[in-house]
Amino acid sequence: MFSSNTYATRRDRLIALVKSGLILIPGNTDSPMNYRANIYRFRQDSTFLYFFGLDEPGLTGVIDADSGESMLFGEDPTMEDTIWIGSFEPLQQKAERCGISNTGSPEKLNEKVAQAVAEGRIIHILPPYRAEQQMQIAALIGSEPKASQVLINACVTLRSVKEACELAELEKAMEVAYLIHTTAMHMAKPGVYESEIAGTMEGLTLKYGAGISFPIILSKNGQILHNHHHHNLLAENDLVVVDAGFESYRHYATDNTRTIPVGGRFTQKQKEIYDIVLAANNAVLENAKPGVLFRDMHFLAATVITDGLKQLGLMKGNTAEAVASGAHALFFPHGLGHMLGLDVHDMENYGETFVGYNHEVKRSEQFGTAYLRMARRLEPGFVVTNEPGIYFIPALIDQWQAAGTNSDFINFDKLTDYRSFGGVRLEDTLEITSHGARVMGKRIPITVEEVEREMA
Ligand code: GLY
Repeated sequence: MFSSNTYATRRDRLIALVKSGLILIPGNTDSPMNYRANIYRFRQDSTFLYFFGLDEPGLTGVIDADSGESMLFGEDPTMEDTIWIGSFEPLQQKAERCGISNTGSPEKLNEKVAQAVAEGRIIHILPPYRAEQQMQIAALIGSEPKASQVLINACVTLRSVKEACELAELEKAMEVAYLIHTTAMHMAKPGVYESEIAGTMEGLTLKYGAGISFPIILSKNGQILHNHHHHNLLAENDLVVVDAGFESYRHYATDNTRTIPVGGRFTQKQKEIYDIVLAANNAVLENAKPGVLFRDMHFLAATVITDGLKQLGLMKGNTAEAVASGAHALFFPHGLGHMLGLDVHDMENYGETFVGYNHEVKRSEQFGTAYLRMARRLEPGFVVTNEPGIYFIPALIDQWQAAGTNSDFINFDKLTDYRSFGGVRLEDTLEITSHGARVMGKRIPITVEEVEREMA
């Protein structure tokens, strides 16, 4: 946890934004794998972590925006809890750790919410994403939960700009990100199974923190964007996409992608595609700064990719027209990045559009750009991923070719040689500073020379 004052200040800032009503923030409960005592690794709700910091199941936070008071509800531990799971800290003591003096049992929580409902007060809740949460809130308020837009907007406003303690935590977490990605580089040799590398990486995340921040994507079939299957045996010259993140004990996430050649040397053909993706990544790093639309950074990456593919003869025509028409999305069918913080896709449970878009920037409906999670103007303190990629997806190529989609901009006949290429994605995390952007942590080897040197 951070200091109790950190949480008290955040709650005060939330009250100033929400202004009135009762704000209900349930923490998560344990989630059984197959019976009650056999549970998945506990993961606290990120909003609860942000405002209360306590990393234990079964707690609910309430913030009264009219009186300015915060309360913590839950059970005191029983002797059984102490014996079986070592839980012994009284609720009151937990509350003090996050700057709260008022506590109550779950029954008191029921009474408090029932009274507020009876008085016709607004009950602010966030969109529930777990069945248990949904049922708890429905039981408390006596109706189906309906998320409060005021609360969503206030949480997005606060959590989008990372505080100094959060930036320091993310920066520290990047040390483990560096370790796991260079470990993958050292291990990617012919005769090794993808699962051996993924398992070693996941083990390291548990050795140094709370584990992975999302299921590891590691595959020589890198053209499958979120490929969680790790069953392939690696052979010389396979190209492996490794997209993996670490979660610190305070639950801050990292998210990086590197693409590595099995055996340690890129082929000429791989280098040519790789260097285009690297140029796109670097162009965003150099141009991202406060006031710039992240959507424009996405289009900048698309432009660099289109220019590069034209030089290789895979695309053709006017670059600006090709990008406007979405032709680049045959090769770069996802968005440039997303916010990062307590969640790997930070705050996505509030609704992706409420995080990445606003009154000024509306989501595109065009294939490819529609997947852009983050589009709005950058501000100092934002933390975003920068993850351009080029992929050769045979089914998509066939579909576009058959339909003649963007045929003015794509040399389909040249793509035959690339059908088994796979993909390349290169992802860093950027902190937006007062005047530009910086890669968080020590940059994981990224140029062809750096990667080959690390793998040697
Ligand atoms: N790096 C995984 C993701 O962004 O979904």
